[in-house]
Amino acid sequence: MSSLEEIGNIKKEALKKIETAGSTSDLDDLKIAYLGRKGKITSVLKNLSSLPKEERPKAGQAANKAKQDLEKNIAEKTKSLSLDELTQQVETQALDTSLPGRLPQIGGAHILTQITEEIVGIFISLGYKVAEGPEVELDWYNFEALNMPPEHPARSLQDTLYVKTGEAVLRTHTSPVQIRIMEEQKPPVYIVAPGRVFRRDVTDPTHSPMFHQIEGFAVDRDVNFSHLIGTLEAFIHQLFGKERRVRLRPHYFPYTEPSAEVDVSCIACKGDSCRVCGGTGWLEILGCGMIDPHVFKNVGYDPEEYTGFAFGMGVERIAMLRYGINDIRLFFENDLRFLRQFT
Ligand code: DAH
Repeated sequence: MSSLEEIGNIKKEALKKIETAGSTSDLDDLKIAYLGRKGKITSVLKNLSSLPKEERPKAGQAANKAKQDLEKNIAEKTKSLSLDELTQQVETQALDTSLPGRLPQIGGAHILTQITEEIVGIFISLGYKVAEGPEVELDWYNFEALNMPPEHPARSLQDTLYVKTGEAVLRTHTSPVQIRIMEEQKPPVYIVAPGRVFRRDVTDPTHSPMFHQIEGFAVDRDVNFSHLIGTLEAFIHQLFGKERRVRLRPHYFPYTEPSAEVDVSCIACKGDSCRVCGGTGWLEILGCGMIDPHVFKNVGYDPEEYTGFAFGMGVERIAMLRYGINDIRLFFENDLRFLRQFT
């Protein structure tokens, strides 16, 4: 076979392969196989000097022509294939802009925060203002000014966490906020005070060493016990529904006289008798009373001029009653499966 024939065959074979190449990477391979450093056309060109003298010019021309033609064909085919590949890529990897985006997870208020806000909101709508006090409290505010001197038996009602013996305690209730506000402000005062309180309790389904209370109190001229009842009824009807009945039982608190505990007709059985209300038809939800004149004296209010009422309730207890929650620990374990039920 003459060298011209050989070049012709190589070229024909290469053109056919270029024609049928399926991808740009196939073309890259062909370029290497024919035009690369050890490619078939390249070797022909390198070996020209070994040919008989008279064959060399024609063979050289033919090989160079073959090289140019192959380069051109590969370039054209590459252009058209890469356009196909791009089209295919766009089609298969295109963004589906109709897909909904991935929304960041939005948190929600803790159930206790929700209930607190709801209760505080009811009193705000009745004209009350919101106040807060410190969680580490002086003995004076937590006990003494509330008519519980050091030997008062009422102190044993609450197991206290002492920060410094005889001086500071973790407040055992929100009632000390009454004293702080009354020391600072002259009547009339209408205040609700939500907050955390602490007791030396061992944790169990109904006890937690930390829980939440909402205190309320009103001091003005001519405030009497029926104002207290009317206020609490309005509050309970807003919180639990108009059909609830309200009952007061005489009770004792050192800082109110007279004092009462307030029951609402059971929200589970509507007053018949069930497990939630322990068969009584009633649920105890708060303590209240007319502020004791001794307390007024401690804050510099004249008990002849002013009267007032006060009340206090547990937020966890109200949440447990409303949602049928049977373990107070659920509020503080932060298990999202529990918490998400309320958002
Ligand atoms: N401080 C009481 C408690 O922790 C609740 C309470 C009862 C608050 C009667 C009051 C009140 O203001 O008048 O159980």
